[in-house]
Amino acid sequence: MSFNVENIRNQFPILSQEIDGNPLVYLDSAATTQKPQTVIDAIVSYYTESNSNVHRGAHYLADKATRLYEGARDTIASFINAASREEVIWTSGTTESINIVANGLAHQLVASDEIIVTEMEHHANLVTWQQACKKSGATLKVAPMNDKGELDLVAFEALLNSNTKLVAMPQVSNALGTINPLDRLIPLAKSVDALVLIDGAQGIAHGNVDVQTLGCDFYIFSGHKLFGPTGIGVLWGKKSLLETWPVWLVGGEMISEVTYQDATWGVLPNRLEAGTPNMAGAIGLGAAIEWFMALDQDAVLEYEKELIRYATERAEAFDGLTIVGQAENKVGVLSFNLDGHHPADVGFLLDKQGIAVRTGDHCAQPLMNRLGVPGTARASFSVYTTRADIDALFNGLEKVKSMLG
Ligand SMILES: Cc1ncc(COP(=O)(O)O)c(C=O)c1O
Repeated sequence: MSFNVENIRNQFPILSQEIDGNPLVYLDSAATTQKPQTVIDAIVSYYTESNSNVHRGAHYLADKATRLYEGARDTIASFINAASREEVIWTSGTTESINIVANGLAHQLVASDEIIVTEMEHHANLVTWQQACKKSGATLKVAPMNDKGELDLVAFEALLNSNTKLVAMPQVSNALGTINPLDRLIPLAKSVDALVLIDGAQGIAHGNVDVQTLGCDFYIFSGHKLFGPTGIGVLWGKKSLLETWPVWLVGGEMISEVTYQDATWGVLPNRLEAGTPNMAGAIGLGAAIEWFMALDQDAVLEYEKELIRYATERAEAFDGLTIVGQAENKVGVLSFNLDGHHPADVGFLLDKQGIAVRTGDHCAQPLMNRLGVPGTARASFSVYTTRADIDALFNGLEKVKSMLG
């Protein structure tokens, strides 16, 4: 199989539009990816041909919707190589998934426990654990990184001890693009029997994820960062943990027996999925993963590496630009600042040229403080990004520089 970016772009209808007379240059895929036609079609087709409430009705449409919805769960399970489909829990996204794990762990946390996160955390994986520690009296420890944005493995190891209850860390930093060496970090965490949660929000679209090979306990991601719809995400967790932990939401679908006085809980995955689920979202995400899996994964990785290599080369040659996050191993994320200019102004003036980047703290305020910057402008790439998009970014930045003086 080969990789043809024009062929891929043609499948994303949104990319062919113009913004104020300029062709759209979409460089904000770390915030959310665009959706291929096949995903849009799967959602439209669900509502036009299959919509019904799942699991409940004894009729044709209910059965059809249930098969599609549960089929999407099978697609996820095979995509991440889950040991069983019961370990795949639908959530609204990464944020909710992390909160479900925190809720489950809360009953076990005691004051002597320690939780380790990293300096490059998104607020979703920082605030959740910070609050869990506040409630339980446990200690939150923050694993440091170097100035390039790479975790310090020696310092990480030194933080681990027999009190370490959980290590929660990102596979990939949303703000810097750093790919963390999970093959080294997870075994270290496991050497002290800590639970390991991987925030895969930024990692899932950039590599083959095999949760069994990784050896973590929880792997979490959002559908919208993987060409799927918003409002749907995944919590993968080891069955032995998920089936014994306290439930999250209570109500319909997640119960076994109910009396006026009491209730017992059903089995996984329903145990953690109370209420009518996001059926169209799950089916859309299933379609997105099937679409993504059909691409040559090695070619995708190679292509993205080439894009970030090219963008970095252009950035290094650009007078007055500072790259924020220079890890050796990065996905297609280029965070940067233009000397003397606020990232918001840079983003605004790029937008006027049809170039979409994200600016600000990227939901990582402590990381920005650690790096001593108010924020950054961030260009992030995906399978539909071209070298021409990157050229457009740097041509746009030349204009920004001349406008800002
Ligand atoms: C690394 C990381 N973690 C967590 C999240 C939160 O994801 P969501 O807003 O989809 O819940 C994001 C979103 O940008 C992210 O990049």
